[in-house]
Amino acid sequence: MNILQVNSSARRGASQSARLAARIVERLRGADPAATLTLRDLDRTPHPVLDEAALGALFTPPAQRNAEQAARVARDDALIAEVQAADVVVLGVPMYNFGVPVQLKNWIDAIARAGVTFRYTEQGPEGLLKGKRVYVALTRGGKYRDTPADTQVPYLRTIFAFLGLTEVTFVYAEGLAMGPEAEQHGIAAAHAEIDEALPA
Ligand SMILES: Cc1cc2nc3c(=O)[nH]c(=O)nc-3n(C[C@H](O)[C@H](O)[C@H](O)COP(=O)(O)O)c2cc1C
Repeated sequence: MNILQVNSSARRGASQSARLAARIVERLRGADPAATLTLRDLDRTPHPVLDEAALGALFTPPAQRNAEQAARVARDDALIAEVQAADVVVLGVPMYNFGVPVQLKNWIDAIARAGVTFRYTEQGPEGLLKGKRVYVALTRGGKYRDTPADTQVPYLRTIFAFLGLTEVTFVYAEGLAMGPEAEQHGIAAAHAEIDEALPA
């Protein structure tokens, strides 16, 4: 089993979402000690935004790309190869201003490539990243689960399904900025959800 862990917090050592993602990985490796792990930390190696130059590079036929364009596409190619090679994708995702961190958006913009990770058919879009499991560890200062303010889960479910990633489990750690007791409770709730999804 190949595991891809994607951390998207702007905090490194202190990131609760990274810690929860690592706990999920630990469980997966406990069940399959031979599993390999690729760690993609989007704060340590930030991915460039999808700007005009990037779009220009992507829409230029490979043989006609200049060196800069080829290098830009190669950066996206590397992220696509990682997700294609993974059997399981584990993401650490904090809530930033009611959305996903910009680095996670950049990662999604990089891996969503027509003809490679999705395609359009006469029946509509078809995701090409099939047969993988996804776990998402969500961390929030407040509590927004199952409310209209939680734009993260519907967004991630939609884009992942579009890419063929339909087996998605969300684990929530909420109320982390609501005092020490609420924080403890939020982390314990997330641990319980991990235990349920991946018993030790
Ligand atoms: C820039 C920024 C924006 C945030 N916006 C929200 C928010 O909109 N809603 C919320 O509940 N928490 C918000 N938080 C709190 C984080 O979601 C919370 O601290 C979470 O634990 C961060 O995850 P991490 O520990 O992996 O970095 C924000 C934190 C930061 C730093």
